[in-house]
Amino acid sequence: MKLILVGPPGSGKGTQAKMLIDKYSIPQISTGDILREAVKEGSPLGKKAKSLMDKGSLVPDEVVVGIIEERLKKPDCKGGFILDGFPRTVAQAEALDKILDKMNLEIDHLLNIEVDDGELLKRLTGRRTCKNCGRGYHIIFDPPAKENVCNECNGDLYQRDDDKEDTIKSRLKVYHDQTAPVVDFYKKKNLSRTIDGLGKIDEVFTRVTGAIN
Ligand code: AP5
Repeated sequence: MKLILVGPPGSGKGTQAKMLIDKYSIPQISTGDILREAVKEGSPLGKKAKSLMDKGSLVPDEVVVGIIEERLKKPDCKGGFILDGFPRTVAQAEALDKILDKMNLEIDHLLNIEVDDGELLKRLTGRRTCKNCGRGYHIIFDPPAKENVCNECNGDLYQRDDDKEDTIKSRLKVYHDQTAPVVDFYKKKNLSRTIDGLGKIDEVFTRVTGAIN
């Protein structure tokens, strides 16, 4: 199965993708995670991406398209994949079509997770992530058993640099201006399914798997 998860920052794409990996045994490909890894390594890509990510702006299309093209060639994508946070512009969606055409592949579903801006702000300001294994938490909605310590690996939890209120507002504007049109692109292909992203994480997951089935 080849899936795209789209939705505003904090809508739960990463959270749902992790649960989909367990259910369908296909990899999650998150351009945000790949870029954050490059920032951590201090690679030329990471240095270029950091200032844009810290402002809440998008990294240039050609950079992320190149990342996706390489990643989709890896053997673990043979049985399908979950694209999380890509495509984020219509130009990226068109480039993805060309890449998949060359590989004789097609997207099965785009799941569009909808959450209002007020809830997104609460989710993002309370998000914490494990430095070691990347598991996500929320200080109120999904807290770790021990404050600031990962349940899975005892790693320290951190707050993302772009989860500050001003940057979140810029990211939401970028989403509404540049990413929302991607949903229309897939609606025209009859591949878009809308998911209500409000409610408990498990309830949203039931809606996600219901839409896939
Ligand atoms: P990226 O990492 O993709 O960030 P994003 O799209 O802004 O999404 P988030 O990771 O913030 O949120 P999410 O929807 O995954 O929510 P999560 O599950 O964590 O991108 C970061 C940056 O990289 C971009 O700004 C851009 O600069 C660059 N970039 C990335 N891809 C790019 C591309 N294709 N093109 C150009 N630039 C690109 O959940 C959030 C919180 O809510 C967590 O704490 C979670 O526990 C909690 N939560 C989840 N679900 C629920 C629920 N149902 N109820 C209550 N709490 C919940």
